[in-house]
Amino acid sequence: MINKLSRWMHNNDNTTKGKELDRDNIPEHVAIIMDGNGRWAKRRGLPRVAGHRAGMKTVIEITRAADELGVKYLTLYAFSTENWKRPTDEVEFLMRLPGQFLMAELDELIERNVQVRMVGNEENLPSYTVQAVREAIEKTAGNTGLILNFALNYGSRAEIVNAVREIAAEVQEGRLAAGDIDENVIGRYLETSGMPDPDLLIRTSGELRLSNFMLWQMAYSELCFIGVYWPDFSRDHFYETILEYQQRSRRYGALT
Ligand code: IPE
Ligand code: IPE
Ligand code: MG
Repeated sequence: MINKLSRWMHNNDNTTKGKELDRDNIPEHVAIIMDGNGRWAKRRGLPRVAGHRAGMKTVIEITRAADELGVKYLTLYAFSTENWKRPTDEVEFLMRLPGQFLMAELDELIERNVQVRMVGNEENLPSYTVQAVREAIEKTAGNTGLILNFALNYGSRAEIVNAVREIAAEVQEGRLAAGDIDENVIGRYLETSGMPDPDLLIRTSGELRLSNFMLWQMAYSELCFIGVYWPDFSRDHFYETILEYQQRSRRYGALT
């Protein structure tokens, strides 16, 4: 295990220093709103896309860190259904990133036994984006380690609308009784079907909002907002957010 990590991880024998990660309380599902690439670039006098490129290095670094910590699911919000409102040039740049990222990193992901997945609507994505992601999904389908889930052309409301349509069709065709629709049924029709809800949501860049990300799934997620732009988000920042998560008391409405 990498030194930097072992500095943070001890066998939960000693919490007096207050800076140690508890190996038995690693969030199973971490979701991240990777925000602040444009501002990172602007601060350096660079075009916004330079921030997106720099952000790719953070993606692989945080994937490694999550894998080493034993996180089971890492969901990364890479492109929202609202991001189409950006200038065409920027959108096209963003659409080329998954292919570039996977070209550079897929071998390492395979070596790490990572399984790549995607949530979001494939339909409006360029074919080169879909092909790259599908190839990664196929090549890693049998892997049993970290599940690296890219939210690409993802919007929580669109996801819920699709789920409602599908459920309504089932009812209309007599396969499902309206009275049998419950939280589990709805969960099964969401794109995250089969995945646990995020335990921890991290948003970088200092913005304090969810921007249409996993609204249903985050009913009881612990939220952690950090004022660091995504390209500057480091392993140490990641460990700090997990440490903060470990200090939270998750009550789910009950008393503890
Ligand atoms: C996050 O960085 C990347 C995407 C939304 C695709 P931004 O591009 O939103 O950067 P800021 O928030 O404008 O700084
Ligand atoms: C959220 O960031 C989407 C992604 C990180 C992919 P945005 O930068 O698009 O969110 P807003 O517009 O600030 O809410
Ligand atoms: Mg932003």
